Amino acid sequence: MRDFIKEVIGRKFIMDWGMKNRLSRIIKPKDGRTVMLAVDHGYFMGPTTGLEKFDEMVNPLLPYADALMLTRGALRNYISPDVDIPIILRVSGGTSIIGKELLHEGIIVSMEDAIRLNVSAVAFSILVGAEFERDTLLGLTQVVDEAERYGIPVLAVTAVGRDMAKDVKYLSLASRMAAELGAHMVKTYYCENFGKVVETCPVPVVIAGGKKQPEKDALKMAYNAIQDGASGVDMGRNIFQSECPVGMIKAVRAIIHENATPDEAYQIFEEEKNK
Ligand code: 5RP
Repeated sequence: MRDFIKEVIGRKFIMDWGMKNRLSRIIKPKDGRTVMLAVDHGYFMGPTTGLEKFDEMVNPLLPYADALMLTRGALRNYISPDVDIPIILRVSGGTSIIGKELLHEGIIVSMEDAIRLNVSAVAFSILVGAEFERDTLLGLTQVVDEAERYGIPVLAVTAVGRDMAKDVKYLSLASRMAAELGAHMVKTYYCENFGKVVETCPVPVVIAGGKKQPEKDALKMAYNAIQDGASGVDMGRNIFQSECPVGMIKAVRAIIHENATPDEAYQIFEEEKNK
């Protein structure tokens, strides 16, 4: 009996190896933090400002990102296969910014294709509180079941509808639900009392950047999120729509991995901008 238990535990350890290895490529074990670069916007927004010439924008940013979040089309068409960066593949979509049901997303990529693309994680958006929340939550659980079969972590994105409040009550509800439904990481928005979102969520939480704001404000937001226990950022527009995207990602990186203050980080941004 004991040997049987040992064998089962041993087998489980071996099966978990891929999952743990992929997670540690994204969330750096030395400090438990990550800078994810989010450039998946085209899946519902088309040629988003800043990403029209995707490769020209994204390639110079790659040395400063720990992981790259994007769609399979962007990956295949714009990113060279010899690039050394963990990929977080968006696997939810099916609606657009001009459609009637923004964010009523379903599964848009098979796990087989995700494996073929050698991704380190997949990302799926849920919309809690919407009429169709059940569809997005069941989509998430289906993706978790399929991804776990192959040791692939799932990043749940807690999308927020146009007329919904991005407050601690809503974001902690959605983040905790995502984790309880099996997500291995959660991407959500920063809010007042953000510490509660992190404390009540049993998996690593990263923040989205949201709409473009002045660089100083975006850096303060990233800093506050880290102070409140976030594991990092999954930031898009506040980097690639910045006056100086390389300066911005370097500044964000300093906050996440070097504990820079917002002022120190802003100086890094300014120095790069004035080069
Ligand atoms: C939508 C998303 C976005 O596509 C994107 O990743 C958000 O990044 P940012 O807000 O920093 O531009 O996840 O829910």
